[in-house]
Amino acid sequence: MTQPIVEHTIAGIRERVRSARAEIETGGAPRARVALVPTMGALHAGHLALVERAREVADIVVVSVFVNPLQFGEKADLEAYPRTLDSDVELLGSVADGLFVFAPSGEEMYPNGFPATRVSGGAIADRFEGRSRRGHFDGVLTVVSKLFHIVGPDVAVFGRKDAQQAFLVERMVRDLDFPITIETVEIVREDDGLARSSRNRRLGSGERIAALALSRALEAAASSADAGIDAAIAAAQSALMGERLVTLDYLAIVDPTTFTPVDDGHRGRALVLIAADVGGTRLIDNESIYLR
Ligand code: PAF
Repeated sequence: MTQPIVEHTIAGIRERVRSARAEIETGGAPRARVALVPTMGALHAGHLALVERAREVADIVVVSVFVNPLQFGEKADLEAYPRTLDSDVELLGSVADGLFVFAPSGEEMYPNGFPATRVSGGAIADRFEGRSRRGHFDGVLTVVSKLFHIVGPDVAVFGRKDAQQAFLVERMVRDLDFPITIETVEIVREDDGLARSSRNRRLGSGERIAALALSRALEAAASSADAGIDAAIAAAQSALMGERLVTLDYLAIVDPTTFTPVDDGHRGRALVLIAADVGGTRLIDNESIYLR
């Protein structure tokens, strides 16, 4: 496999995409498709699934690696976020040929400090993750918009673990007429059910075991869904009971088309969301259920 080409500047990645496109399109070949996989690095199997999907749907794949300070509320959380560019590039090179990595510095992305102009996700962005992490999604949507303008992809690929993020990005693309298709990819789990996350590497061994309570709670909700929403929530809550290291932030069942909580009359697909602090590490997970 060839190692990815890493660019640190906006001008550099634009030129790479332009020339890769031109090369594919020489001789009248159809327009080359570009996919963007936005990440904050510390890559794991979940990210590799996004890259795999990007390769299936596009000719040119750009993986961005940028720990976006604009989406972190607490300085400590930003500082603790793992930064592992060299091993990320190596990992990408071991799974796919011909990738481009865009890894800008903070100054490259925000040369005048944090931008005065931001993209707002509206009321839904203040719920669930947004309630505990004020301004988080405005930071996400702002950087994602910038990445869209910088790379100019036809497709962008996001993971379904960050379900609220995927919902808000899809809505932003529609609301602001970005000519981009959003692809979402299923959650990748460890063998024991823990959803893959860059934050998992912060878990100590006791916390790693305690963290399984999240996927257990989702499974419990899913297997009680036939008895209705209250029963599903109660089953999830009882799966969390006695987990000393787990502090629940929210547990909710939402309509995936509106991201608002469903009531007992809801029929069809719904999404069970969970977020918890596990020994100081914030983890999120979700599972799709069907309400009859
Ligand atoms: O999901 C993430 O890793 C980040 O929120 C994203 C989409 C790369 C924006 O910084």
